[in-house]
Amino acid sequence: MAHSTRTASLTIDGKTYELPIYSPTAGPDVIDITKLYAQAGVFTHDPGFTSTSACDSAITFIDGDKGELMHRGYPIDQLAEKSHYLEVCYLLLYGELPSAAELETFETTITRHTMIHEQMHNFFRGFRRDAHPMATMVGVVGAMSAFYHDSTDITDERQREIASHRLIAKMPTIAAMAYKYSIGQPFVYPRNDLDYASNFLRMCFAVPAEEYVVDPILARAMDRIFTLHADHEQNASTSTVRLASSSGANPFACIAAGIACLWGPAHGGANQACLEMLKEIGHPDRIPEFIARAKDKNDPFRLMGFGHRVYKNFDPRATVMKKSADEVLDLLGVENNPLLQIAKELERIAVNDDYFIEKKLFPNVDFYSGIILEAMGFPTSMFTPIFAVSRTVGWISQWKEQLADPAMKIGRPRQLYMGATARDYVEIENR
Ligand code: SDX
Repeated sequence: MAHSTRTASLTIDGKTYELPIYSPTAGPDVIDITKLYAQAGVFTHDPGFTSTSACDSAITFIDGDKGELMHRGYPIDQLAEKSHYLEVCYLLLYGELPSAAELETFETTITRHTMIHEQMHNFFRGFRRDAHPMATMVGVVGAMSAFYHDSTDITDERQREIASHRLIAKMPTIAAMAYKYSIGQPFVYPRNDLDYASNFLRMCFAVPAEEYVVDPILARAMDRIFTLHADHEQNASTSTVRLASSSGANPFACIAAGIACLWGPAHGGANQACLEMLKEIGHPDRIPEFIARAKDKNDPFRLMGFGHRVYKNFDPRATVMKKSADEVLDLLGVENNPLLQIAKELERIAVNDDYFIEKKLFPNVDFYSGIILEAMGFPTSMFTPIFAVSRTVGWISQWKEQLADPAMKIGRPRQLYMGATARDYVEIENR
């Protein structure tokens, strides 16, 4: 916990309370209200947590005004350019960039955990073929707690580490199996001679009838997409994992909760919703119609892939993703991808529109990612599962950080009660 050097004075009905202020290594100061209810008998009120710090953390920092994102102090654009996903996983989990030997050991460990228990294959067959892959992932990841009993004791640091490795390693296998099941193709086992991204592509796109050769362009693009989605401070799904973990739930159940939260279109489901929106727009000429709908208070429509609770500037991940979209589509020979043209024109119009300027709405990580993923051969239903694969390392790093905090206690918010006050039961004959 940071050290308090100043206090904030809060006066209620003539009585003043001094609340400690803590200064972080970066970002806004925080006011500690942990003793406010005991001292003043009042709650603070912040639905949606727009102004609330829920925990200490040293993993990821976001400056929303500047549009900056750092993992353990390293800017995301440098990591996307110079690092790769498993190295970023190591950084998020352990706090420092690995030495060559540390990285090799870590990558070998993850590689050797990529298979899932053979009996888990049966879970997939319980789903309809047209089930959304996210539904399958919530079920199968939650069911991991029924198979990996030797890594569910959260009080045992070694078990916490094994669970972390298993989740990072097995999520691509489970996501690929959910995809294969949905298209009626046989499951493809992971290969230990392939890197993380290549393994995932092969498990998704290989078929027993022929050899699958991984395209290095796609592998690099896949790895970069994994890197860009790895962690993002206390977003909704990470907060869900932290809250689930605060009750002592096992890591697989906590990650299944995170997957469920990520699925929502306001969060990780936006990449699928954004591509579907671009397809509905269909032609640049129809952009003004959709911009008008997005601005209409009476229309629930929002520009998917736009806006963010924290970023009031460009999401730095969107900037990298936009550049990557140009590169990947060019390298794939997808000339003048119509959806990319619509997305670029939509961005150009929106960021110059007073409504979006005033509300500081910019493209976020989900705006361009779907265009790349579709060009790589993924159906829109696989966009959010890919986000979940990537974000698992963020969830589990934050889970580990919370469990290592001696001050951790179960999360239990209060409320502003606006319901009926006490009244006596009325017999049915008297109603
Ligand atoms: C992710 O938190 C994270 O870090 C998430 C994430 C991560 O890596 O974990 O970055 C991943 O979830 C990215 C966001 C993906 N979601 C979308 O692209 C869906 C579309 N965006 C919105 O629904 C919205 O912008 C949110 C949910 C992302 C943020 O919502 P907030 O912070 O609660 O803001 P708000 O809904 O209060 O909006 C503020 C104003 C409102 O207008 P007023 O009521 O003030 O008049 O801006 C408007 C909104 O109507 N607005 C939009 C808009 N987003 C906000 N108007 C049109 N189109 C939009 N996309």
